[in-house]
Amino acid sequence: MTKFKTILLCLVVGIAIQVSSQSKKPVYTDNSQPIEKRVEDALSRMTLEEKVKLCTAQSKFSTHGVPRLGIPELWMSDGPHGVRMEILWDSWDHANWTNDSCTAFPALTCLAATWDPAMSHLYGNAVGEEARYRRKDVLLGPGVNIYRSPLNGRNFEYLGEDPYLAGRMVIPYIQGVQENGVSACVKHFALNNQERWRDRIDVQISDRALYEIYLPAFKAAVTEAKVWSIMGSYNKIRGQYACENELTLNKILKGEWKFDGCVITDWGGAHNTKEAALNGLDIEMGTWTNGFTFSKSNAYESYFLANPYLKMLKSGEIPVSNVDEKAARILRLIFRTAMNVNKPYGSLASEEHHMVGRTVAEQGIVLLKNTANLLPIDASKYKTIAVIGENANRRLTEGGGSSELKPKREVSALQALTEKFGDNKIKYAMGYGSGAVSYDMVNKSPYDEAALRKEAVELASKSDIVIFVGGLNKNTQQDSEGDDRRSYGLPFGQNELIAELQKANKNIVLVMLSGNGYEMPWLKQATTLVQGWYGGSEAGHAIANVIAGEVNPSGKLPFTFAAKLNDYGAHSFGAIAFPGDSIKEEYKEDILVGYRWFDTKKIKPLFPFGFGLSYTTFEYGKIAADKKQYAAGETIKLSFTLKNTGKVDGAEAVQVYASQPKSSMVRPAKELKAFKKVFLKAGETQTVELEVKANDLAFYNDKNHSWSLEPGEFILRNASSSADVKSSVSIQVK
Ligand code: GLC
Repeated sequence: MTKFKTILLCLVVGIAIQVSSQSKKPVYTDNSQPIEKRVEDALSRMTLEEKVKLCTAQSKFSTHGVPRLGIPELWMSDGPHGVRMEILWDSWDHANWTNDSCTAFPALTCLAATWDPAMSHLYGNAVGEEARYRRKDVLLGPGVNIYRSPLNGRNFEYLGEDPYLAGRMVIPYIQGVQENGVSACVKHFALNNQERWRDRIDVQISDRALYEIYLPAFKAAVTEAKVWSIMGSYNKIRGQYACENELTLNKILKGEWKFDGCVITDWGGAHNTKEAALNGLDIEMGTWTNGFTFSKSNAYESYFLANPYLKMLKSGEIPVSNVDEKAARILRLIFRTAMNVNKPYGSLASEEHHMVGRTVAEQGIVLLKNTANLLPIDASKYKTIAVIGENANRRLTEGGGSSELKPKREVSALQALTEKFGDNKIKYAMGYGSGAVSYDMVNKSPYDEAALRKEAVELASKSDIVIFVGGLNKNTQQDSEGDDRRSYGLPFGQNELIAELQKANKNIVLVMLSGNGYEMPWLKQATTLVQGWYGGSEAGHAIANVIAGEVNPSGKLPFTFAAKLNDYGAHSFGAIAFPGDSIKEEYKEDILVGYRWFDTKKIKPLFPFGFGLSYTTFEYGKIAADKKQYAAGETIKLSFTLKNTGKVDGAEAVQVYASQPKSSMVRPAKELKAFKKVFLKAGETQTVELEVKANDLAFYNDKNHSWSLEPGEFILRNASSSADVKSSVSIQVK
């Protein structure tokens, strides 16, 4: 046979082998195939038992795969602020691995306070890389529950009181996480706005409040960020558990929003096989079992979507199509994550990630008061700088519930201020003290409060300037999961301490670390106040850089700081409105949440939503619209000049609020509809351009269950905060 023919023969044989091996390679394992074809192929190969197995946990944080077909398990991990330390197979205890220390990123209230979606993407991508490196397929975050009451233990994990701000800020975070082949899991869907009785409180709410306030951030996560999983909350909504809810899961999430991902319970959020099966639950986690020894009746095969579900499928009580739909969603999640061969490899606790954390913390810090120009501190002017307060030196990434972290490092304010100003100038006194972090009880402070206070006041009286670092912490009934604060005041005698310090020294910089608002009885005497949030691994450096003026603060409040608790809408209608009667709760303030309440009821807050100062000043030009009249579906183009009229470069989160003077239904005095963070050099002027979709001016009409954009006049305002409107323009919507 000629050489040519031999080569040709080998070629043909080679292709034949190749084709046959291709045909032997199952479609579901072939990454070049479209995901829906892979889902179909995998389903066709699975038994009924294997499909049912996909729907439940096999351990505290993992689900069953299909070992026979080489379809891997899904591994999940908390949380929104970083990848939690490894947890044991069947208990909440830490596994005490030595290779799972992470970067602790700032709490999400701090991210919201940056008012900068670019920060969200940086953050999401970094935390996604850490989850990927730790081989997690689902990161259990971000949380976007609306800040309705300042007592809610988990507000620090969320993005504030306004649905538009929360929606715009959550999208890039989710995209950043999922670029790593890790699923974000937006939570807790829905109406988990408190921790007290969270496992059963039945929220009664109008359609308007549901659609206009509590759903938009979740809708943005699903329809714009294309989140791959969502976590049902523990509470009930109009009588049905959120993890088995016909209205929120079937009708809204999977119906109206066409969600193609997985609904995962909060841990222990499933309660009934048939309701879970028929009302949209896909994966059941955490139904209180230790899987092996604790009562057999609690073992994983006893989960609601395990054997009881299999029995109902076999008897025909539930059609097999029901489990096919769930299994298809779970397979889609597996192909997007665990079986996604194109995903990067991630990285853990790198300096780059720590710099992301520090930048977000620096951009989120809010300067609330600076009337004596104590800030930025020029250390050369002072011999002794007193740092006072437990929060200057307390680990604040520990505790708080499932968002707890084991950071590679956590730089405290005391450490960073000492590094910056020198330990010959910095003197520390604790001033007040709280008990150790615990999850199941309110620890009494083990300290002698009077002695701590005396020591701190003495130090203050002998120092040139005082930096007080206080606020809340991650103890139970503080900023922590599982329960709520019982009062709006600062704990551990801080108010009395601050009052004493103010008598001892007039140069005091107050720095508060918290995820919630609080009373400020000492505010009149205070000249300098900074809201520092929980800044994570690099918190101290961020605080010190702002205090020293290396960073010009540009954060703005993502929620209202009221003067007193009963000024909040949720606290204006008695206990049934908050925290409820332990069975039921009625959201009586309805759509008037946050600044919507304070504006409409003309109640002056201590510090309004969207407020934040800078070391420089800004001048706003008059807002203009590109047209006089708009049709539904059109985009309103707005512009105005912004000038940095001070001596230092800075950034300003400009805001646009809309109102409809005449409408057939009650509407808030104004609502946030656009914002942008503008960076300006000293003396620089920019023309800021913003867009508002005319359709976003609609309200939810609960008479005909649809959004209504009523024709007529709308007022659009540019503002530096919800209480500081600079100018307005009137437009007509046809
Ligand atoms: C907790 C939290 C949820 C967390 C989950 C797993 O109960 O509510 O946010 O992701 O259980 O720890």
